[in-house]
Amino acid sequence: MASNNAQAQIELHRALAPRYAFRYSFPFSRLFQQDWHAEMMGHIPEGSKAILDLGCGTGFFLAELMEKHPSAVGLDISFEMLQVSDQYIPGAKLVTGDAERLPFKPGVFDVVFCKGSLHHTRDHVAFLKHCREALRPGGVLIMSEPCNDNPFIRLARAIMYKKSEHFDVGDQGFTRKGVLDLLDQADFETPKVKKYGVLAYVFAGFPDHLSILRYIPGNYWITRAFLAIDRVLCALPLFSLLGFHIVTVSHPKSGGES
Ligand SMILES: C[S@@+](CC[C@H](N)C(=O)[O-])C[C@H]1O[C@@H](n2cnc3c(N)ncnc32)[C@H](O)[C@@H]1O
Repeated sequence: MASNNAQAQIELHRALAPRYAFRYSFPFSRLFQQDWHAEMMGHIPEGSKAILDLGCGTGFFLAELMEKHPSAVGLDISFEMLQVSDQYIPGAKLVTGDAERLPFKPGVFDVVFCKGSLHHTRDHVAFLKHCREALRPGGVLIMSEPCNDNPFIRLARAIMYKKSEHFDVGDQGFTRKGVLDLLDQADFETPKVKKYGVLAYVFAGFPDHLSILRYIPGNYWITRAFLAIDRVLCALPLFSLLGFHIVTVSHPKSGGES
């Protein structure tokens, strides 16, 4: 039986599915997402074949992944989110399922991606352990999660998650230290950590919420400029505090629990 949180996520994302499709329908928003996806896909090791997108949602990331890795699989707890994927990427391998009970043999994936799914779960270490079990020895977990290192971002998120009907009140962002501790507890080592998204995240991340952004002339080109500025900001230790997301690249510890 689905846990209370799993049930809450199913209901939340049933309502959100059309909204995601709408969000990604604007060229400037898609440009931002494509840049984000390229950042994540840049960490796929050479020769990887079996790839899982865990919490693939409406499948915009999966569609790009499949251009180079046609056998990639998407799993999501929300059937309605997957229905959008199905329209967008006919023929994709999509599985409705709960990350807490993955319907795959252990140790089969070269890469597991999680873009924004960990913070929707309640037992983060258990979720990460399931990711580790899905990976073959030497596989890699590539994740992007909301980052709250900046106190203003933490406050803005806390208010948004509490007030907005588009989040569950228990959803939360992470600090850099917090997410690295969770990965460590789940027997991962994490050699690469990067912040992602500052100006472009705010400007192009949510045109469904901030409708005015859709009408700003040149919003595509402004997004391009912001992406270039964000790359510089996220590479500088002090300014990277401004990053809204944290991208981690982790491997199961050798000798860790299996
Ligand atoms: C913020 S959305 C991100 C979707 C997609 N990765 C993207 O970037 O557009 C989070 C997704 O995680 C899914 N999700 C939440 N809890 C889950 C669970 N326990 N197992 C599988 N998917 C889950 C939700 O249904 C939703 O589609």
